[in-house]
Parts: sequence; structure tokens; C-alpha cells
Amino acid sequence: MTQMQLQPIDHRLNTSLSQPQITADGGIRHFLGVEGLSKKQLQTIIKKAESFFDKNGNLTNAHDLEDCTVMNLFFENSTRTRTTFEVAEKRLGANVLNLDIARSSTKKGESLRDTLWNLEAMTADIFVIRHSASGSAHFMATEVTPNIAIINGGDGWHAHPTQAMLDMLTIHREASRPFEKLSVCIVGDIKHSRVARSDIHALKTLGVPDIRVVAPKTLLPKGIKRYGVNVYEDIDKAVMNCDVIIGLRIQNERIGSPLLASSSEYFKHYGITPERLALAKSDAIVMHPGPMNRGVEIASSVADGEQSVILKQVNNGIAVRMAVLSLAMDGQRAYKNLAK
Ligand code: CP
Repeated sequence: MTQMQLQPIDHRLNTSLSQPQITADGGIRHFLGVEGLSKKQLQTIIKKAESFFDKNGNLTNAHDLEDCTVMNLFFENSTRTRTTFEVAEKRLGANVLNLDIARSSTKKGESLRDTLWNLEAMTADIFVIRHSASGSAHFMATEVTPNIAIINGGDGWHAHPTQAMLDMLTIHREASRPFEKLSVCIVGDIKHSRVARSDIHALKTLGVPDIRVVAPKTLLPKGIKRYGVNVYEDIDKAVMNCDVIIGLRIQNERIGSPLLASSSEYFKHYGITPERLALAKSDAIVMHPGPMNRGVEIASSVADGEQSVILKQVNNGIAVRMAVLSLAMDGQRAYKNLAK
């Protein structure tokens, strides 16, 4: 085994992941992760996403992906990401194909590499990929299909960059202060959350000075402080005077395990309740990537309350995915022109 393989996964998958996604002039060619992207690049995505809203705040259509074929390859379950990608692709005029993984030849033992090469031969321009293996999107972009724009729809515990960018767009549109003046509190299973990792990278890059994470010790990754966050175990202290609260899903398989005693115990100590929301700033917003476990990580009255922007996140997800698809296609075209 090489020394590289012996390093912890988050060391191996850190900044090196971000390099293949950038063109020589700083454009986005693949979208694999937010770490390593500059503030300007994240702002470009936000600005592009905003361009897809009309003056009344409704989503518009565009022609950016006309004559392009996008294939959605979801090897893991999804409601929001898969569907909003499909809506975004159709709004941009793309030909869209959703591979039905359960009925595909991967179930007969075909390797991922062979599956992708066969799909590439069907003249795809963009693959949107969700896979349980951390680093899978990077592997596809560098080793398997480098001439197809790869968009990461979530890879293992590692990254969920379009979720991070829709979260940033939501904060930009809904929070009362600019990024440089915000306190953002992320509550829940930080250890296993690709959303938390990507959100932290994006918030730091956009200049948020106070990023707080709060969870039971068993759900905090070792070395979390090196991400430059403030770590809490007491949620009442963590949410005090903050501007944004982001709840994370507790994976049910962790309940009743050595990591978590019970869902009622978790809700008692870490649930986002009206009483806890009242400790934050009076104009604080509440976010959650979904799927939500009501009564475990968040009270229904908070999830459906006036300060919740959870469904706005879903709508913003369409605009962000339109932006990322469009920018990645531009970058891939520019890369191919240079290579000619
Ligand atoms: N937030 C998110 O990734 O949700 P899905 O798993 O439903 O796509």
C-alpha cells in the first residue's frame, strides 16, 4: 500500500481535487468541489444563477445547452438534486437522459468505467454524477471521461458542491447581512456530512468570519478545527446571536448505535426548536438541505415557520444548477478548442 493510500480520506481528497476542474483562464470545466475555487469563481456562479431569475423572482429559461446532451447518473438515491438537475437541464434546452441504474448493466457486473465509456460513445456532453464513493467524480473527470464535463451531485462523505452553492445563493438572497458580517451555525452530523464540508469551504471562501459547528462529540470529525470553524457541543451557546442556522440530516442508521442514543434524546439536546431559534438574531434564517427528519433534527414549527427558507433552497437549487451546467459547458468547449 502506498503512503498516499494510508492518509486519512479528507487529507487525500483535499485541495488536489479542485485542480482538474479549472481551465487555464480560471473558468470552470468540471464542477467537482468548491474547495480550491476562488471567491471570484464562487461569486461568478452566484451571479450567473441570479441571471436566471426575472425581476419578479421567477425562474426563466435559456438556450445555453441547446444541442447538448446531459446524462444524469445517480448511483445513490436522491429527490432534490436529481430532479432539480433535470429541471435545470430542460430549462437550458438540453437533451436529457436519466440512466436507470437499477435496470442498467451495472447490475450484471459491468464496471463503472465500461458503463461510462459506453455512455460517452452515445455522444454525451455532460455527466451529472452521484455516487457513494468519495472521490468518484474526480476519478471520472481525470481518469475515465476527461472530455465530458463532470458535475458532482454528491460523492460519499466528501463533497456536495451544488448543494453548497445553492446554500450560498440562498444566504446571499435571504440573509439580512453580507457574507463578511455573518455568523453561521451548522448543527448536526458534521462527521458524515458532505454538505457540511462543502458549505464550510464555500462560507470561508466567501469571507464569513464566524462559522460555528455544533454536534455531539461522536458526530464531530477529528481535526475539525483545522477547517477554521468554532466548535461547540452546547447548541444553546452555538446559536446565540447567529444569522443563519443550517440543520443537517441525522442518518437513521446512526440512531441507537454507539454514536447516538435515541432520536428523542438527540432532539432534546440538538434539535432546532422555537426556543433555540429565539436565541439567534431576530431576523435569522433557518436552512436544511433535506431530506429532513422532523422531530429529530428540527421541530416542524421551525421547518414550516416564517424564518425557514428550506423550500427557497430547493428553488434556488434549479438556478444554481443551471449556472453550473452552463459554465461547465462553456469551460469544456474552451478546453476542447485549445486542445485542437
Ligand atoms: N439535499 C440533497 O442532496 O437531497 P437529495 O438527497 O434528495 O438529492
